[in-house]
Amino acid sequence: MSEMNSERPAEEHYNAPLRPHEFDGIREFDNKLPQWWLWTFFGAIIFSVGYWFHYEVFHTGPGQLQAYETEVKEAEAERDRLIAASMDLTDEGLLKISKDPEAVERGRTTFLSTCVACHLADGSGSIGPNLTDKYWSHGAKPTDMYKVIDKGVPLTQMQAWGQPFGPKRVAEVCAYILTIKATNKKGRKPEGKPEDGE
Ligand code: HEC
Repeated sequence: MSEMNSERPAEEHYNAPLRPHEFDGIREFDNKLPQWWLWTFFGAIIFSVGYWFHYEVFHTGPGQLQAYETEVKEAEAERDRLIAASMDLTDEGLLKISKDPEAVERGRTTFLSTCVACHLADGSGSIGPNLTDKYWSHGAKPTDMYKVIDKGVPLTQMQAWGQPFGPKRVAEVCAYILTIKATNKKGRKPEGKPEDGE
């Protein structure tokens, strides 16, 4: 027999009435719930009503999925910012990437999977301009091209690729374009200004 069974309940419990049931000789005091417990309980009920209206009825607060998506977006933006800060995204830096065969190859893969619909596989242009001539509407500098690919051209079919790609992929596809520019593939006629101001 353990010592536990002979332990008597604390003095205060003797004032409470006994519940009418009995199991195997065990009886139960009808203790009052402590005030702090009750108020926590009622508080939780009141809170849950407010919570329900805020999130589920009026939708004045972001839903779980929405909050999650916002957080992921913020984390991705922060990640991209850190990557961009660690990369040399100047004209010289982008030109240097265009001399790195592996980076250019990755850029070419991106170009062939994403950009061909409008610029064609050889870059000679269809819906989008010819990227192999010497004429550029948004500037011929590597940083100009980076900006167009990153931010897109508003109100045209050229969308911003910075968000889905992140800075590394944008830089690589930009580097690839630097390798095909001025290779003069026959295609869409030149648009914009000539690179060297001819
Ligand atoms: C849905 C069609 C479409 C897709 C896909 C597309 N572009 Fe474009 N792109 C355009 C159009 C249209 C323009 C011209 C925008 C304007 O009117 O200035 C353009 C312009 C450009 C320019 C600027 C050219 C200049 O003359 O200054 C570059 C660089 C470019 N695109 C690169 C890319 C890259 C890289 C991709 C793939 C990641 C891509 N584009 C995907 C339609 C597209």
